[in-house]
Amino acid sequence: MNMSKAKSSRDRRIALPVVTRVTRSSINPQDSRRSKPTDSGLVDDLSLMSVSEQQASLARKGKSYQSSSPSTKAVLSSSPSGSSVPRGALETIGRLMKLGRVRNIVVVAGAGISTGSGIPDFRTPGTGLYANLAKYDIPYPEAIFNIDYFSDNPHPFFSLAKELYPGHHRPNYVHYFIRMLHQKGLLLRMYTQNIDGLEKLCGIPDDKLVEAHGSFATAACHLCYTPYPAEEAKQAIMNGNVPICTFCAGAVKPNVVFFGEDLPEKYFQHAQDFPKADLLMIMGTSLKIEPFASLVNTVKSTVPRLLLNRDPVGPFERRPLRRADYMELGDLSDSVQKLAEILGWHSEIQDLMNSHETGLCSYTDPSNSSGENSDSSETDSMH
Ligand code: OAD
Repeated sequence: MNMSKAKSSRDRRIALPVVTRVTRSSINPQDSRRSKPTDSGLVDDLSLMSVSEQQASLARKGKSYQSSSPSTKAVLSSSPSGSSVPRGALETIGRLMKLGRVRNIVVVAGAGISTGSGIPDFRTPGTGLYANLAKYDIPYPEAIFNIDYFSDNPHPFFSLAKELYPGHHRPNYVHYFIRMLHQKGLLLRMYTQNIDGLEKLCGIPDDKLVEAHGSFATAACHLCYTPYPAEEAKQAIMNGNVPICTFCAGAVKPNVVFFGEDLPEKYFQHAQDFPKADLLMIMGTSLKIEPFASLVNTVKSTVPRLLLNRDPVGPFERRPLRRADYMELGDLSDSVQKLAEILGWHSEIQDLMNSHETGLCSYTDPSNSSGENSDSSETDSMH
């Protein structure tokens, strides 16, 4: 597998049908004390109030309550005339960003960011990959990514790998939004579970990206971890052959992290990154797979967490939400575009996307391992 292996078996990938986690927020009694002053001052800044408080407040002012979405946590803000109007999750986070209160964003992403590129996610009933594996004749869907099952029978994964190898799909607006966060100097790190390589392809540089579940970019023996040329492994797999390790004769596989395998060493950078984050954006993931899913619980409790997803997941399934938790439910591309519009970035992202996708971008980023034209090393301040 990955040459840089994490030693701890604690951080092997595991699939939990229902993940029950004790989070810092749920065990910290201070979280439930509404009057506790925060160390960041964000609560004051955002005029945070519960939806019921907003309804009561608006009723006192003779106004009706409106949220931008029924499942969006809304907050009150003062208009120039002094009256209070409800603000949705995107407006709140957008305002924070525009105020310069956010400088270290950590993005946590999953397969939902790539459905706009035509790649199915894993767990959406009907369309998700795991609902469409009947032809592989495997005992249960996740067996296709299970290292013990692979050791016994690598053929189902290799058949699927022909479809999964990067090359058929292009990054979409969501990927370019994240790249724009980088260009604005706001992206501390992106942690992705995806193995489609679209983050790199859109120009997010290596040092800003943690591919927590590996990638197809390198390959190694699944038994002794001896590296194997990735292109040769791909050719063998595409031709229906099993690439064989020259050292121990084990089956070689791309360095995608299977269930039962260790995560790449880079993943452990989270211990430094998450405490530094001043905004966490969670996008397009069911947060079902550990240890990745629990990362979202490692930011400080005062740090805003924005979930952009079709449905509530992980800690966002619980009520009440943590005070600094926001979610915008619906199609991710729509939500991200709305946020970009609030920030005034929409046309800039479109231009970036158009120029990058048509290869018109004149700047070539030497750090871009995809070899594509990119100006990803450029950052500019939004302030
Ligand atoms: P899942 O398929 O489990 O979750 C994707 C989430 O994105 C779901 O909550 C969807 O509702 C949501 N979603 C999909 N398309 C969306 C859209 N257009 N707009 C908004 N939301 C959308 O995928 P992951 O959480 O990434 O392992 O799965 C985690 C891991 O499980 C993967 O890394 C994978 C799998 O086993 C490997 O790749 C080897």
